[in-house]
Amino acid sequence: MVKYCSPHRLILSVLILSYISLTIFLGITNDLNVYKWKLNQQNRYRIINGSFSSKNLPFDQHNNHQLIGSSTSLKNQLQTLSWPENRKQRSSVKKYKILIITRRNKLSSLARNIITAIEANKFSYSTTIGDNLPQYLTNKRYFKLLIFDSLKFYVNLSQRSKIMINSYCKEQKGVGILVFAVDESVYHTSIPAFSTIQFLPDIKSVTINSPNPMLRLTRNGGNITDYLPNRSWTVFNNYKNLQPVFYINGKNGKQYVGGLLDDGKDDGIRRVFFGNSIEFWLVRLLFIDAIDYLSHGTFQRQLNRWLQVDVDDVFVGKKGIRMTDHDVAAMLKGQEVIQHNVKNFKFMLGFSGNYFMKGLSTENQGDKALISNASNFWWFCHMWKHTKPHLFQTTESLIADMKRSQAFAVKFNLRIVPGYSVSPHHSGIYPAYEPLYDAWKKVWNITVSSTEEYYHLNPAHKRKGFIHQQIKVLPRQTCGLFTKTLHFKSYPGGIQRLNQSIFGGELFRTLTDNIINIFMTHMPNYANDRMAIYTFVHAINFLKKWTNINLSSIPPLELGKRYFRLYPDEKDPLWFNPCIDKRHKAIWPYVQACKQLPNMIIIGPQKTGTTALSLYLSLHPKFRANKASKRTFEEIQFFNDNNYHKGLKWYMDFFPSIDQSTSEQQIRYFEKSATYFDRALIPKRMHALLPDASIIIILSDPIKRAYSWYQHMRNHSHPAAMNHPFYQIITNEKQDRIIKQLQDRCMRPGKYVTHLERWLEYYHPSRVTIVDGGQLIDDPVRVMSDFQAKLNVDDVLDYSTKLQFNKRKGFFCVKRERGRSKCLGRSKGRKYPPMDKESENYLKKFYKPYNIKLKEVLESHSLTIPLWLKEQI
Ligand code: A3P
Repeated sequence: MVKYCSPHRLILSVLILSYISLTIFLGITNDLNVYKWKLNQQNRYRIINGSFSSKNLPFDQHNNHQLIGSSTSLKNQLQTLSWPENRKQRSSVKKYKILIITRRNKLSSLARNIITAIEANKFSYSTTIGDNLPQYLTNKRYFKLLIFDSLKFYVNLSQRSKIMINSYCKEQKGVGILVFAVDESVYHTSIPAFSTIQFLPDIKSVTINSPNPMLRLTRNGGNITDYLPNRSWTVFNNYKNLQPVFYINGKNGKQYVGGLLDDGKDDGIRRVFFGNSIEFWLVRLLFIDAIDYLSHGTFQRQLNRWLQVDVDDVFVGKKGIRMTDHDVAAMLKGQEVIQHNVKNFKFMLGFSGNYFMKGLSTENQGDKALISNASNFWWFCHMWKHTKPHLFQTTESLIADMKRSQAFAVKFNLRIVPGYSVSPHHSGIYPAYEPLYDAWKKVWNITVSSTEEYYHLNPAHKRKGFIHQQIKVLPRQTCGLFTKTLHFKSYPGGIQRLNQSIFGGELFRTLTDNIINIFMTHMPNYANDRMAIYTFVHAINFLKKWTNINLSSIPPLELGKRYFRLYPDEKDPLWFNPCIDKRHKAIWPYVQACKQLPNMIIIGPQKTGTTALSLYLSLHPKFRANKASKRTFEEIQFFNDNNYHKGLKWYMDFFPSIDQSTSEQQIRYFEKSATYFDRALIPKRMHALLPDASIIIILSDPIKRAYSWYQHMRNHSHPAAMNHPFYQIITNEKQDRIIKQLQDRCMRPGKYVTHLERWLEYYHPSRVTIVDGGQLIDDPVRVMSDFQAKLNVDDVLDYSTKLQFNKRKGFFCVKRERGRSKCLGRSKGRKYPPMDKESENYLKKFYKPYNIKLKEVLESHSLTIPLWLKEQI
C-alpha cells in the first residue's frame, strides 16, 4: 500500500490518468464528426446494372467494320433534372466559388487535375494554402465548397482551424467539404474512419455503391474491370458510420472502400472522401457529383448535352484513301446506331465541290452514294478548292470561290444547314480575318461557326466561344482522330491510346464536361478503317452506360443561341497576339506586321497631362507614337468597344512596320488613349494582346482633375456645364440625369484606387509606372529623367535640352530655335477661374477614403506615391 501511495507515484498516476483522459477528450473533440450513416431512401434514380469490359467490344482486327448495338435508353427511367437554365440560378453559380485548399505552395498534380476539372466545368474557384485558411476565410462569404487535396493535412488541422472551418460551413448554409487521400496513410486512432491504409493494387474490379444520394451525373453501369488506374490506392478502414461511395474488389476476394460519404446528418456538414485521384474516370465523374451534392446544388450542371459531328472535306483526298459506296453505307449504319442514343443526330458534311468524282472508280461510286443519300445528312458549304481563306487577297475573290460551292450545292440538291460553316485549318475564323467574315455574311449568310483555336488549341478545356461581326463562333472539340490517321494499326501510340480516350479518357471527359460538343472529323476517318464510326459509337455507348447524360442534336443556329445563353460572358472576343502562337501565325495573313504592336501604353486618366507626356516621349529618339489618323482624331482608343470590334489589323495599321536595322529594332512604340484607365473591360483586353507592355498611369490631384474636366466640358458647350456651377454638378442635389452624366465623368475617374486595382489584377506592378501629374506640370525634366530610369532606357535624353518654361502659356513647352517654343494647343493648359472653396472642401471629403486606400495600394506594390498624395494623407 505504502508503495502505491508514495507521493511520487501518486503524482505520476494522476499525470498519466490526466493524459489519458485528455487524449480521449481531445480524440473525441478532434473527431470532425461522430459519423452515423442512414441510408437515404429518396434516391433520385433507378439504377440499371450492367457490366463493362473492353474485351466484349466489337472491335476486332479482322472485322473492324462491325458496329455494336445501342444500350437501353434511360430517358424514361430518369427523373428529369435540368441544370439551372433560369438566369437567377445561373447568376448564383457565377457568384459563388469553390475553394481549393492545398497543402503546399507548389500545386500537386492532384491539385492541378482538380483545377482542370473545375475549369472544364466552368465553375469559379480560388486556391489557397492550408496554413492561412482561417485568415483567408474571414469575411469571404462566397465559398460553397471546400476541397482539400490532402486528408492527412485535413485531419491534422489545428483545433482552432477545425472549429473555424466547421462554423464557416454551418454559417454559410450548405458548404460541404471534399477531401482527397491520394498516396497517403493517416493512422489516427481517434478517427477510425480515417485510419487509412496503403493498398498496392491487385485489383479485379471497381463497383459503385448504389443507392447513393450523391449520384446524379454518374450512373451505376456495373463492374468496372478495364482501364483501372495503374497506381496505388488509399482505401478506408472501419467506415461503419459512413456510406461507401465505391468499392474496390481485390483479386484476393476482399472488398475495400475507395470513397466515403458523410451525409451531414450529425453536424449539418456534408463531406466526401476520395482515396484516388481524379485521373481515374470514375472518381472524376463522382467528383462532379460530389461538387453538386456538397454544395447543395449550387454547382450543378444540367444533364443535357448537345452533339454535332462535322465531317469535313467529304470529297477531298488522294486516290486510294477516299470513301467507297460501302463506306457510305457503313456511315449511314453508324449514324443510325448513334441516333438510338442521340436524338436527331445526323453527320454534318462539309464539301469542296472541286474534288467531286476525282477518286478511283470505286471511290467515285462513294461520291455518288453520298450525293444520292444527301438528304440523310446535313451539309455545310466549304471553300471550293479547300483553300485557306486567309490566302485570298480580297473579299471579292473569297466571294467568287464561295459562290462556286453554292452553285454545286444547288446542282446536287444538297440539304445545306442554314447559317453554318467552318474553314480549312480554322483559317480566318481565329485570328479573325475580316474578309472571311464579310464574305460569309454576303454569300452564305453565315451566323454560326466553330473553331478549336480560341483562345488556343491547348489547353483544350479552356477553349471558348465568341461573337464577331454578329457571327457566333463556338468552341470545337477534338476527339483523338487525325486527318491523316487512317488505320488502327498506325494510330499514334497504338489503338490502346484511342481506346483509353474513348473509355473514360479525354474524349469521355470532353463529352461529360461540355454541354455543347462540336467535333471535327474528316472524310478519311470514315473510309479505310472507319475509325470515326468506331470512336463515336463506342464513346456514346460508354457515356450512356456510365452517366445519366441525355444526348441530342439541334441545328447549329440553335446551338449558337444556346451556347451564349449558357455563357453570355464569352460573347465579347479577346484578341491575342497571333504571332505568339505557331498555329495562329500559320493562318494569319499579316505576319509581317508581327512586330507592329506597341509595348508601352499611356492609359490615362483624362485631364492629368497625358497629352504632355505623350509629346515629351515622342521627343525621345527611342520612343515613337502611333501614326496620326483622321479616323480617330487624337487617340486610337482601340481597346474601347467600337474600335475593338474592328479587329486587330485595324489596330496594327496605326503602327509602322519596323525595318530590320538594329537601331530601328530598339524603337519602342507607344500609344496614348486616356479613357483606357477607368473602363472595366480594358485591362483584360489589353493584357490578352499586350501582356508585356509597360502601363503608364498619370495621377494628379483628383480634385483638380475633376475641375479640369468640368472646364473642358464648358469649352465644348456641354449644356449641364454651361448652365450649372461646378458645385451643383458635383453634388447633383436635383438628381438630374444630364448632370449625373457629367458628374460621373468629372468624379469617377478620380477614384484612382478602384481602377488601379483592376489593372493590377492583370499586370504585375513591375510593369506599371506611375507618373506624378503635379510634378509633370512643375518639373517635367525631372519626371522624364525618372521615367527613363524606371524603364531602363539606354540612350537617356536630357530633357532640359528639349523643354523650357513658357511664361505666356504658364506651362513647359518644346524648345524651338531662337528662344522660341512650341506649346500644346489651346485645349491643354486652359486659363479658368480658380475653384470655389465650397467645391474644394466637398471634393476633399469625397476623395479622402479613396486616396487613403490609394496610398496603401501604391505602397504595398512599391509604386511611386505622387507628392500631392503624400501631402494630403
Ligand atoms: P487644364 O487644361 O485643365 O489645365 P490631358 O492631356 O490628359 O487632357 O490633360 C490636360 C492637362 O494637362 C491640362 O489641364 C494641364 O493641367 C496638364 N498639363 C500638364 N503639362 C502640360 C503642358 N506642358 N501644357 C499644357 N497642359 C499641361
